[in-house]
Amino acid sequence: MTQHLAAPAAPDSRTRTDWWRDAVIYQVYPRSFADGNGDGMGDLKGIRARLPHLEDLGVDAVWLSPFYASPQADAGYDVADYRAIDPMFGTLHDADAVIRDAHALGLRIIVDLVPNHSSDRHDWFQRALKEGPGSPLRERYHFRPGKGPDGELPPNDWESIFGGPAWTRTTDPDGTPGEWYLHLFAPEQPDFNWEHPAVRDEFRSILRFWLDMGVDGFRVDVAHGLVKAEGLPDIGHHDQLKLLGNDTMPFFDQDGVHEIYRSWRHVLAEYAGERVLVAEAWTPTVERTAHYVRPDEMHQAFNFQYLGTHWGAAELREVIDGSLAAMRPVGAPATWVLSNHDVTRHATRFANPAGLGTQLRTPGDRALGLRRARAATLLMLALPGSAYLYQGEELGLPDVTDLPDEVRQDPSFHRAQGQDGFRDGCRVPIPWTVEGPSYGFGAGGSWLPQPDGWGELSVEAQTGDPHSTLELYRKALQTRRNQPGLGAGDALEWADAPEGVLAFRREGFACTANTTGETVRLTAPGELLLASGPVDLSADGVDLPADTTAWWAV
Ligand code: NOJ
Repeated sequence: MTQHLAAPAAPDSRTRTDWWRDAVIYQVYPRSFADGNGDGMGDLKGIRARLPHLEDLGVDAVWLSPFYASPQADAGYDVADYRAIDPMFGTLHDADAVIRDAHALGLRIIVDLVPNHSSDRHDWFQRALKEGPGSPLRERYHFRPGKGPDGELPPNDWESIFGGPAWTRTTDPDGTPGEWYLHLFAPEQPDFNWEHPAVRDEFRSILRFWLDMGVDGFRVDVAHGLVKAEGLPDIGHHDQLKLLGNDTMPFFDQDGVHEIYRSWRHVLAEYAGERVLVAEAWTPTVERTAHYVRPDEMHQAFNFQYLGTHWGAAELREVIDGSLAAMRPVGAPATWVLSNHDVTRHATRFANPAGLGTQLRTPGDRALGLRRARAATLLMLALPGSAYLYQGEELGLPDVTDLPDEVRQDPSFHRAQGQDGFRDGCRVPIPWTVEGPSYGFGAGGSWLPQPDGWGELSVEAQTGDPHSTLELYRKALQTRRNQPGLGAGDALEWADAPEGVLAFRREGFACTANTTGETVRLTAPGELLLASGPVDLSADGVDLPADTTAWWAV
């Protein structure tokens, strides 16, 4: 296969004001990235030591999942103190060192902000419980008396995303059953009442705290959940999880959330450099998602419609067109994502039959999954806009689908009664070396067991192997930087292609993706830059194998 990797490096993305329009952003899940102190749990020292890997890989920014003080009822998405680092991850000094080192390497840092709910160990919530009904602190959360003669029934019929009712009854200071409080997720994650000015003030102050620390932006957890419909109305039936993503729920995607993000945008504007807000907003349509990225709100929103799309040309084309069309009127970049810490990795999703959703417990056909995953990544990185990578996907890691139930820590596994909750499978600590304790993750063990043979997928094993997935990612990101036609933009031009093949052009560039299980014969659109698998070029065309994407200079 001929590959031509051309041209001088693009200007340092840190000097560009609109860097986020085409940024490739790498998600670090701190528990599972690198363990600096050998206790089996990833930490900030580990992340700091491994930043050069991310620089080599060629990403623009790093998004860190939560590292704040937390009892870890939901792996850190239950924050007890938004201005402190959990001792298991290190100290504020370590966070400062990560931010400084990242900047020195030309990497930006985006931190996770969790504004929908706190931990039940948060000082406000603890005091609210202690002070009992009538405490002004209770107004910062959603406390309500129960229904029924003795208040024994929850205030409404909402169900938690993690299973079971979205309400938990408290015990009054005198030991008698008391009010209920709302938690859309685990009971250890009480929802804030965003109608309360103290909550709004507090989060603007938290934003400033981290902006002062030098972060380049925030990934906003459950950005669609902060405002609840007035009166907390009943939904009227069970199995509400099935409605998520299809219907507007009284606790999700309420119009009132947008005012909050407009006020946050003002806070960011007080700071030098282009700091960004990224919405984790699960909405029914890409058009609703676009509301979060209007010019005076956030900068980007995750494209979960794309993440949920199967490996098939027609379906992909529809989502790609729909995403670009939805973002165009608001002037925001489209974003693309295939994996994160909440879903089965795409190497395993694509190894299984289509239509099983994003929470799988079956390994499927590993070789097929990897081939498609590599092809899907090259396709994604060729699309106009910004892309998100999840740690370990550059190694082609599959989900660990056979974790024994007793080692699983995901609260949704334990609460969801089989509805989903297989998120531990994508959170297994990643392998850095072929041998050694926890394959170089740390000097000790690893908080979730790594499978045998994990070392063969390590950074060490793949470095320098031209056929490895890691080298494919490195070349793809280098090529993306050097090709003016890749990255930002809001349009692409589709070309005619056989059924099951996606072919499009951008300025000086073309991409062809064969999503079928058969080799297809095509006219080569230009000079081959890179391909996700072996490609046969001949004078009169190209044989593009099954599940393979190729990039061309035109
Ligand atoms: C979305 C996060 O990505 C997920 O991991 C978490 O469980 C929920 N929000 C609740 O914070």
